[in-house]
Amino acid sequence: MTDVGIDAIEVWVSNLKLDLPKTFAPENGEDPEKYTKGLGLFASSFPDSYEDIVTMAANASYRLMERNGLEPADIGRIDVATETAFDKSKPVSTYVAGCLEQVYGKSLTNANKGERKFACISGTQSLNDAYNWIASGRNRGRGALVIATDTALYERGDAGEATQGAGAVAMFIDEDPDIVTLSKEQGIGSADETDFLKPNQQFPSVDGHRSMQVYLARMREALEDYKAAAGDIHPDDIVYGPFHTPFPGMVKKAAVLAYRNVIRDTEVADELEAEVGRQPEPEDFTDQEDYLAALREYTDSLRDTERYQRWYKERIRPTLTISREVGNWYTGSVHVARTSALLDGYDRDRDLVGSQMIVGSYGSGAQAEIHAETIQPNWKRAIGRLDIQEQLDSRYDLSFAEYELIHDNHNLDLETDVEPLTTPDDEFVFAGWGPMGERKYQFVA
Ligand code: COA
Repeated sequence: MTDVGIDAIEVWVSNLKLDLPKTFAPENGEDPEKYTKGLGLFASSFPDSYEDIVTMAANASYRLMERNGLEPADIGRIDVATETAFDKSKPVSTYVAGCLEQVYGKSLTNANKGERKFACISGTQSLNDAYNWIASGRNRGRGALVIATDTALYERGDAGEATQGAGAVAMFIDEDPDIVTLSKEQGIGSADETDFLKPNQQFPSVDGHRSMQVYLARMREALEDYKAAAGDIHPDDIVYGPFHTPFPGMVKKAAVLAYRNVIRDTEVADELEAEVGRQPEPEDFTDQEDYLAALREYTDSLRDTERYQRWYKERIRPTLTISREVGNWYTGSVHVARTSALLDGYDRDRDLVGSQMIVGSYGSGAQAEIHAETIQPNWKRAIGRLDIQEQLDSRYDLSFAEYELIHDNHNLDLETDVEPLTTPDDEFVFAGWGPMGERKYQFVA
């Protein structure tokens, strides 16, 4: 079978920024270190009043096409993953296609369009749909445009307000891709859970602390399922491990558990035995509580070893660099983590061709998925085209009063007109409502 994977990536960081330690924490009477040290977050990105999930998706897609010389005829499929859609029938992908047709003056009539829903994991599910479509040979030589776009806002005063964010990631999936190929093997861990949901409401009902436990449980199941399909994973064979990142502190918790899992019965565990003891096994205990206490103690000691710290610093921490500055992008989050890892490799001029990443996605409700990605010979050319740092640096820094207004402006239950705080430049903007309640968009050169 031909190799299938990600040929191009583009990220659209929305135009506003909320500084969490400097602006948000003091207004809430909180210690700024809850953000910088506890959650691992420095800022959230926010959409200006003329931005929404469509403009961010269309802007990421248009840049992706321009930078990679793609034309509408190259695209046979447009799938949008989002958990902040504003329409229960008309998919966001149709709006995005309309935007692209405006600027290219060419039609996307024969491109199949859809929208995927399963909380934050639907971006990866769309990626897998594109993979399957191409691998089945139904693509007729064309690629798939997969877009993850969200405005991840929480109700004012909700604990989740600390982890908000907004942005879009567009990816072109194709045969013989430039960036990574996806493994045929994948692992799934899934269960009927109610950790985060939005039953016909804009802002989520979320039990954040419970969601963290569900994330870890489903991720472990997915890892076991992946190993059953693909064989054992050696931690030193993984160049980077991008995970879904609702906030970087979550990944920090997940990484040590993943490390503990994959070193079991390996020479790494043997070599660490003198320092941290032997990994507790359930059959060694008659009492479950004693087993869990021993496991916690072992995990804490493992986390403190120099070997683990080095592994985390090299292979996991670089996946969090963008997330620390933008917050949670829901469906885009794991794709931001992958991009962040590859940018680290690019900035350090690393030779990564043929190296493997293990990618862990999660969606509340709940499901985790794990697959491997192999870095391809042209990855540097593709990653070198990104300008994420410039986008981060040019965001407008919100005062707390402006943040309150912008939050109200994006609250669908309120009618708050807010003058834009930035000036659109070479991008799609929301341009008002049509007669059937549809949204209108135009490109501002
Ligand atoms: N210095 C250092 N660390 C601090 C601190 C300080 N001054 N104050 C708090 N912290 C640490 C806490 O110990 C905690 O870390 P820990 O989990 O390792 O113990 C962390 O910062 C967060 O503090 P906490 O009190 O738990 O914050 P919170 O009650 O406001 O909730 C979330 C945090 C993440 C649960 C909440 O923001 C949330 O629900 N977010 C949404 C998550 C979500 O949407 N999940 C679904 C998608 S996956």
